[in-house]
Amino acid sequence: MNAFEYRNGQLHAEEVPLATLAEQYGTPLFVYSRAHILAQYGALAQAFAAVRPLICYSVKTNSNGAVIKTLAAAGAGVDLVSGGELERARRAGVAPSKMVFAGVGKTEVEIADALRAGILFFTVESEPELVRISNLARRLGATGRVALRVNPDVDPQTHKYISTGKQENKFGLDFARAEQAYALAARLPGLEIVGLHMHIGSQILTSRPFAEAVRKVAPLCAELQQRYPAFRYLDIGGGLGIPYQPDQPPLKPAALARELVPLLQPLGLEIVLEPGRYLVGNAGALVTRVQYLKDNPLKKFIIVDAAMNDLIRPSLYQAYHEIQAVRATSARVLGDVVGPICESGDFFAQDRDLPAVPPGELLAVLGAGAYGFAMSSNYNSRPRAAEVMVHGAQHALIRRRETWDDLVRHEAEVTW
Ligand code: LLP
Repeated sequence: MNAFEYRNGQLHAEEVPLATLAEQYGTPLFVYSRAHILAQYGALAQAFAAVRPLICYSVKTNSNGAVIKTLAAAGAGVDLVSGGELERARRAGVAPSKMVFAGVGKTEVEIADALRAGILFFTVESEPELVRISNLARRLGATGRVALRVNPDVDPQTHKYISTGKQENKFGLDFARAEQAYALAARLPGLEIVGLHMHIGSQILTSRPFAEAVRKVAPLCAELQQRYPAFRYLDIGGGLGIPYQPDQPPLKPAALARELVPLLQPLGLEIVLEPGRYLVGNAGALVTRVQYLKDNPLKKFIIVDAAMNDLIRPSLYQAYHEIQAVRATSARVLGDVVGPICESGDFFAQDRDLPAVPPGELLAVLGAGAYGFAMSSNYNSRPRAAEVMVHGAQHALIRRRETWDDLVRHEAEVTW
């Protein structure tokens, strides 16, 4: 399903014109389609139905409570990476028995919180982390369920900043090291070895790296099952890519499942998936108003009221985001879409064939539902944008626009 479509020359989110939302809530504005999120979740759940996976939404992707609640109500669990995300998931009503907690730097406070909450398991990235979880579990009289993160050393052929399953990355443990770490976990009090975790990277558009990784860890899983009676989960992480360009072929969950299910089923394990981008990426658009047109002998610039502080992916990863005029136009211009921030890296598109729109008109930057608002900042003292969720013909503010007061709210005055 496509969340954003033209109807009568107006770009809509489901039944609602984006122009109406921009009028009511102002710009820049993140707009999310609830139906798209649910359709993506449904397609994934259905494709993998044969192994009845626990689909743990990766909260870092878009941590708005309304998004977490939407997915939780559909049956999703959560993949967490901080105490803050644990708190958000709790507030959204996610059952701790559906929470998994990843990350290379879990603090004592975060681990203790998660132990008290009784999460399903920690995905553990190092031996010192095992020791820390063991100590805290003992102190709290709790059991730390652990799945070690194994690094299958496959190349997901994605941007180097979002590739995580190669040996040179900071994540996980290689096979030999993982076996030793499992042996250590078995000796430490307060721990229960429940599974194996991997996550090879993000924005992966073919099944092959996933299949390669599962093939690589399968023999180890079989061995661990023999050795540790409570071993029952294989968490294959997230990373399912989405099309950011209109002609980009999507990774179809059915195609992925066709390759993976025959590898997963014989293992007899409970399967956990941790998708983020796949569920919410194309559910979101960043709506922005054109402020000025400017040109010099080399370039034409469309200057908009959104900036890299709202959506940093183009600046950080040279990521491509499709840009559409909210009011359809056939006029085109070759140029850049840039924000008002004092950095040359503040752009949404460069040297691109774009809709030619005058100041005052609206543009929609698509694919903004994942790692958009979640990675936003107040750089240049810009209040964070508002977020709206659309549900059919209804829409609701799910985070109000920040105010000038919000910008200084946490500062303290020095009196000397
Ligand atoms: N599981 C773990 C352990 C992860 O580290 C991540 C993402 C996910 C699941 C979800 O990955 P996804 O399904 O969304 O690919 N900011 C970057 C992406 C960073 C991904 C970090 N880890 C971007 O904007 O492309």
